[in-house]
Amino acid sequence: MKPAKGEQLTIALTKGRILSETLPLLAEAGVSPLESVEESRKLIFPTTMEGVSLVILRGSDVPTYVRHGAADVGVVGKDLLMESGDEGLYEVLDLEIARCRLMTAGTGQARTGHAAKIRVATKFVNVARAHYSSRGIQPNIIKLYGAMELAPIMDLADEIVDIVDTGNTLKANGMRPLEHIADISSRLIVNKASMRTRNHIIASLVERLGTAVASRRDA
Ligand code: PRP
Repeated sequence: MKPAKGEQLTIALTKGRILSETLPLLAEAGVSPLESVEESRKLIFPTTMEGVSLVILRGSDVPTYVRHGAADVGVVGKDLLMESGDEGLYEVLDLEIARCRLMTAGTGQARTGHAAKIRVATKFVNVARAHYSSRGIQPNIIKLYGAMELAPIMDLADEIVDIVDTGNTLKANGMRPLEHIADISSRLIVNKASMRTRNHIIASLVERLGTAVASRRDA
């Protein structure tokens, strides 16, 4: 895998769990940053592969950069991908890392009726609207940017839509998971135009990452 002379390839990543679990996979594909991404305040990092660089973004910005072609390739949670939609990009590989579930949660019993006009706090407004609509419910969606678990306690909302991993955060705040919306893991996404113009290097990257993912699965 090598870009053609002068060719650039930009890969968008997010700090935290996605970064720490993606870097070893990228290393197996021959791409490693030339300095520690975790310890630096820089946002752009050249790599061991000439022409290939990493950029560090907020997770919710990764689909935006890839959609507009500012980054060719990105790694993003399926939750944020569902929320942003897949216009202008391809979801090419499940990296099988940073697994969790996207769920509704609340303090009381699961709803049984369809009539209730409930208030739902979430940062996943599109996903939440689609989920409740599929249940015949038109919720009042309240957009939040974090600490969703606080909203029912403070009587801002009846339920939340959020990612659940261990369930400890819900439990610690007197809440429990209600409805499963989707299983989440990190996905490799590719700008549609880049897929055509840089097909050779991107196909090679996807193949190598796919091999690295499969070898972990089998380990
Ligand atoms: C996420 C999510 C929950 C928590 C779930 O928050 O929003 O609060 O993790 O994990 P658990 O089930 O293992 O308790 P995160 O810490 O990622 O921060 P965020 O609010 O920025 O999403």
